[in-house]
Amino acid sequence: MERLHVTPTKRVALRTEGLTKYFRGFRAVNAVDLAVHEGGVHALVGPNGAGKTTLFNLLTGFIQPSEGRMTVFDEDVTGLAPEQIARKGVARSFQITSLFENLTPREHVELALQGRTSQGLRFWRSEKLLGKYRPEVDDLLEQVGLSALADKPSGLLAYGQKRALEMALVLALDPKVMLLDEPTAGMGIEDVDRTIELVRRIAAGRTVVFVDHNMHVVGSLADEVTVLQQGAVLAQGTYDEVRRDERVITAYLGEAHA
Ligand SMILES: Nc1ncnc2c1ncn2[C@@H]1O[C@H](COP(=O)(O)OP(=O)(O)OP(=O)(O)O)[C@@H](O)[C@H]1O
Ligand SMILES: [Mg+2]
Repeated sequence: MERLHVTPTKRVALRTEGLTKYFRGFRAVNAVDLAVHEGGVHALVGPNGAGKTTLFNLLTGFIQPSEGRMTVFDEDVTGLAPEQIARKGVARSFQITSLFENLTPREHVELALQGRTSQGLRFWRSEKLLGKYRPEVDDLLEQVGLSALADKPSGLLAYGQKRALEMALVLALDPKVMLLDEPTAGMGIEDVDRTIELVRRIAAGRTVVFVDHNMHVVGSLADEVTVLQQGAVLAQGTYDEVRRDERVITAYLGEAHA
């Protein structure tokens, strides 16, 4: 806190050490060591069933590890409940994304903004922002391209628009670390490109970890890539390093492009 005038070394936002999850003896996540650097965009890739979602579930406290530990900004969060981890500034799209068909995007975002204050999260930057949701709601909806649909029932939104609204709900929490599980799944090219731009913008000033099967998305966004295979880390590095890795080509890229 007193080190503001010192050039900071890059902190690690999320770290796992030997993180392991057994499901009835089956190792869905197997001794994963992961370091997600603050301010980075980190992609988690791997074939279906590699353990990506399970790792997200562990990182957000939805399930508890069988072995290993994890930290958020160097604070041990192993064993904490989802809301306790959320309070450390970690949010995940999935956690708050059950949309109510009858509520409008505006109402969804208002609820999310109210939720963040009632959770006691210190997300507001000054007292002045309190009680002024309207401009923030408008801003969030604009960021995700939903201004024109703000007052329509969410049930009428197209799939890509629903995903965009889900993103706005995570953004409303103003998390330090954002975990996005397949943000572009099921989207057409236009929505994919819009989502890439959106993630790029929201990544400014925060840390993003995302799972995606679309290598165009991974290559466009990720500073660092971790490849999981059968629950274990197969490779880690920049997109270019990882895509040239023979083991990755065999295990994942080869399969994905087959
Ligand atoms: N609650 C659970 N109980 C038992 N097995 C589980 C459970 N959750 C996940 N698994 C298994 O763990 C493995 C990893 O699943 P996970 O959903 O993490 O994969 P993934 O990498 O996210 O795959 P996808 O790309 O298809 O989303 C799979 O074999 C899955 O069947
Ligand atoms: Mg998954």
